[in-house]
Amino acid sequence: MAAHDAVEVILAKRDKQELTDSQIDWVIDAYTRGEVADEQMSSLAMAILLNGMNRTEIARWTAAMIASGERMDFSSLSRPTADKHSTGGVGDKITLPLAPLVAACGVAVPQLSGRGLGHTGGTLDKLESIPGWRAALSNQEMFAILEDVGAVICAAGDGLAPADKKLYALRDVTGTVEAIPLIASSIMSKKIAEGTGALVLDVKVGSGAFMKELGSARELAETMVALGTDAGVHTVALLTDMATPLGNTAGNAVEVAESVEVLAGGGPADVVELTLALAREMLAGAGRSDVDPADRLADGSAMDAWKKMIRAQGGDPDAPLPQARETHVVHAPASGTLTRLDAMAVGLAAWRLGAGRARKEDPVQAGAGVVWHARPGDRVTQGDALFTLHTDEPDRFGRALASLEGGYDIEDGADLTPGPIVLDRIG
Ligand code: URA
Repeated sequence: MAAHDAVEVILAKRDKQELTDSQIDWVIDAYTRGEVADEQMSSLAMAILLNGMNRTEIARWTAAMIASGERMDFSSLSRPTADKHSTGGVGDKITLPLAPLVAACGVAVPQLSGRGLGHTGGTLDKLESIPGWRAALSNQEMFAILEDVGAVICAAGDGLAPADKKLYALRDVTGTVEAIPLIASSIMSKKIAEGTGALVLDVKVGSGAFMKELGSARELAETMVALGTDAGVHTVALLTDMATPLGNTAGNAVEVAESVEVLAGGGPADVVELTLALAREMLAGAGRSDVDPADRLADGSAMDAWKKMIRAQGGDPDAPLPQARETHVVHAPASGTLTRLDAMAVGLAAWRLGAGRARKEDPVQAGAGVVWHARPGDRVTQGDALFTLHTDEPDRFGRALASLEGGYDIEDGADLTPGPIVLDRIG
C-alpha cells in the first residue's frame, strides 16, 4: 500500500479535492493501526462533513472499512439470508418481531444490532431486559442458532469493520455524525462485511431521526442502495415516518412487551404495518415472495420462532419483564383530538428517565420508558391519562416532563387522519 501523509489527505479534502483510492486506502488502514491520530481523523471527518465525497470516494471509503476487518459468509446455510437495518428512531422495536417472523417464513436473519445512544433506542438494550438473555455470541454460536432457529439478534464482534468502530466513536464526540457519506459508509461497511444476501434499509425521516427532511433521507437511502447493489447485496430502502414515535412505548422492557403483543397477533397497528412491510421486502430480496408473513403472525409460528430465538441466547421468554419502581401519569390538559405527538420529545423523555445512556459506558434501566395512551388522530377527554412515565429514580421525572412540554397538540374540533408510515421506496 502506498504511503501518504495525514496532513496531505486533510488538506486535499479541506480544499474540496476528490480523494484518490490510494489516499483513502491508506488513511483508513493507518487510522485503524493508530498511525493516524484521532485529532487528524476528526479534522478529516469534519472536512468530509463540510465538503462531501462523491459516489466513487464513498464506495472506496466503504471498501477500505470492510477491508479493515473480517468478512462473514453465510452461503453454507441451508436457507437464504436477509437482514434489516434502521437508521434509528423512537419506539423503533421493529427488529424484535421482524427477525423471528422472517425466520418463520423460511429465510435466515443474521441481525447484528447496536445499542442506543442519546434519544434513540438500541435493540440490544431492549433485549437485555429479558432475564438471562445475552448479546455477545461467537461466530460459531451465531451460525448454529441461524441454522437451528433461523434468526439471531446479537452484537457485532470486534473483528467486523474495526475502522468503523473507531471512527463512529470519534464522530460521536466531534460533531461529525450527520454526514451522509460517513453514515452511508458506516452502515454499509458493517452490513456488507456481515455477508447477508439481501438487505432492507429502514431510513427514518422526521424530528426523531438523524435525517429531518425527506430530501436528505432520500439521498442517504440512494447512496446506501447503490453501495449495497455494487457489492452484490440485493438492497432496497424504505423511507419511513419518524415525526411520530412508533407504537405506544419507548424504552426497554416496555418495548419488548409491545413486540410480544405483535407476535401474539395484536399490538399497535403502525408497528404491525411496518413489520409486515419490511418482512415482505426481506422475503422478496431473498426470493421468497411466495410466503405471506401475515399468515405466520396469525398462525403463531412467528411467536414460536421468537421463543426459540430468546432461549437459544440464554433468555427466558416466559419470565416476567422488569418493571420500574416509580410511575408518573400525565393527564390531558384539555379535550379534543391529539393532532401531534413529537418523536424527539418522547425519545428525550425516555432517555432522561434512564432508558438510554449519556455516554457509551453508562448502564441503562430495563424498566424505564414512556407509554403513551393516545396516538395522533385519537380523541382525548380532559383528565384522561395521556402518558405514563416509568423510572427507578423519581428525581428523573422533572426533566422528562420538561421534554414532553410542547411535544404534543390537542385541538378541539379537529379531525386528523394519520399519514402513511412508508413514505417512499428506493431500489
Ligand atoms: N448508524 C451507524 O451504524 N452509523 C452511522 O454513522 C449512523 C447510524
